[in-house]
Amino acid sequence: MAEKQSSSAARKSFFALFLTTIVLFVLSWLFVLRLTGRPRPLDRKVLTTQKLPTFFHHVKSQSSNGLSRAILVNNGGREEEPPKREQGFQDKDGAMNCNGNVKEPLKIFMYDLDPEFHFGLLDWKPQGDRIWPDIRTEIPPYPEGLNLQHSIEYWLTLDLLASEISDNPNNRVAMRVQNSSEADLIFVPFFSSLSYNRFSKQNPHQKKSVNKVLQAKLVKFLTAQKEWKMSGGRDHIVMAHHPNSMLDARMQLWPSIFILADFGRYPLNIANVDKDVIAPYKHMVESYANDTSDFDSRQTLLFFQGSIYRKDGGFARQELFYLLKDEKDVHFAFGSLKNNGVIKAGQGMRLSKFCLNIAGDTPSSNRLFDAIASHCVPVIISDDIELPYEDILDYSEFCVFVRTSDAVKENFLINLIRSIRKEEWTQMWEKLKEVETLFEYQYPAKDGDAVQMIWQSLARKVPGVKMKINKSRRYSDAVVPGKDGGLRSIPAPKNFW
Ligand SMILES: *[C@@H]1O[C@H](CO)[C@@H](O)[C@H](O)[C@H]1NC(C)=O
Ligand SMILES: *[C@@H]1O[C@H](CO)[C@@H](O)[C@H](O)[C@H]1NC(C)=O
Ligand SMILES: *[C@@H]1O[C@H](CO)[C@@H](O)[C@H](O)[C@H]1NC(C)=O
Repeated sequence: MAEKQSSSAARKSFFALFLTTIVLFVLSWLFVLRLTGRPRPLDRKVLTTQKLPTFFHHVKSQSSNGLSRAILVNNGGREEEPPKREQGFQDKDGAMNCNGNVKEPLKIFMYDLDPEFHFGLLDWKPQGDRIWPDIRTEIPPYPEGLNLQHSIEYWLTLDLLASEISDNPNNRVAMRVQNSSEADLIFVPFFSSLSYNRFSKQNPHQKKSVNKVLQAKLVKFLTAQKEWKMSGGRDHIVMAHHPNSMLDARMQLWPSIFILADFGRYPLNIANVDKDVIAPYKHMVESYANDTSDFDSRQTLLFFQGSIYRKDGGFARQELFYLLKDEKDVHFAFGSLKNNGVIKAGQGMRLSKFCLNIAGDTPSSNRLFDAIASHCVPVIISDDIELPYEDILDYSEFCVFVRTSDAVKENFLINLIRSIRKEEWTQMWEKLKEVETLFEYQYPAKDGDAVQMIWQSLARKVPGVKMKINKSRRYSDAVVPGKDGGLRSIPAPKNFW
């Protein structure tokens, strides 16, 4: 009996010990979890600093472009780079602003092409052997009218010229450098859209149109340059915004970065989103300054102006016309934007809540940018459209996208548009007013306008371009400098992608 009691007491105390151990274990486990579990936003930073030896301390230093950054310095004064930030758009000082925009200007070498390739196409007559107009005293005007849609070549070139006389270099996104080996990218100042628009008709006395002659000359010139040979053309910027511009040269210049309106008329291996940059059209309607309209004051629900019958790809226009023509608050107007069509379209867009963008001959059109400038929420029905700066801009915040296959279903589109309430529309309208600057071409360029946004898009291509150039040098037959100091060309890759 006594034995039994003592054994039961031992069992009890053993059990108590066991219980205490469990409780302690669970408590300590919870404690550990509290420390290491669920990462909070700051944890990563805290851990990084904790790992650093104590003799490092933070100091503030002023980097060359005036941005202060924290660097780590030990007592011996030796500098150590701060922990790398996530892969982003860093400049050489590691500085990055909140939009991920590059702060250090992109360095661009621009070929001194004969004026017949650029301002000469604008009827500018160079004095003496000048290649560029002195933009302090004269800025050759660009022709009015629809040519302006594709005038990106003009604004980018002017901005580069301005970078040489700018009194505020810190504010620049891109600057011209005279030494190509210091450049990030090489700019080809051929006004190819203007050349197509004005000079693609063949004069009876010529064998070829001026537009064709210029393209052939350009290809010959470029492929003979040492800059082209060094990179196989990969770091060259070639502008071809009009879908029909560079029709001949594109097949030879394809390793370069094209600036395009869309990829509609390009085979995938010649142009694609990874390699190239999409730039906005210059809008034709006037910007809507001081827009005091609202959901109720814009009485047209849905607005479309354009021709209904288009070539391939545009079949949806016709279908949509028949689906929508009996809706009383839908405006479907036909006709091109010639004469006073632009003014009328602008007025119509300002009075409409939504503006339709339907694929035409090409996936893109300037209508989208007209809608944005009029703060009319774009409804985009164009499955293959590519949009400018879409890597940093979320168009769904201010556009409605509808798949073509859905849009042509009975009542689908009109029900969708009618289901968007005042509140949601107003949010998109507010956003349109915020983003409209991003699509504005002007000289001089302003902060965050189309010119600067395009340079920034190009800057984001630079690391990829450099990697491709380095890869292309792997094998000795692609080695660049020859024995005599001459350069051997890097063969254009057969399968670029
Ligand atoms: C161009 O820059 C490179 C590298 O910085 C330098 O070696 C070369 O001398 C420069 N050329 C001229 C003409 O200044
Ligand atoms: C818009 O408002 C500003 C300031 O109120 C004024 O200076 C400007 O002229 C207005 N613009 C138009 C087009 O009415
Ligand atoms: C390519 O090689 C150069 C050295 O020639 C190097 O400085 C550069 O960082 C390399 N670029 C990439 C993206 O690897």
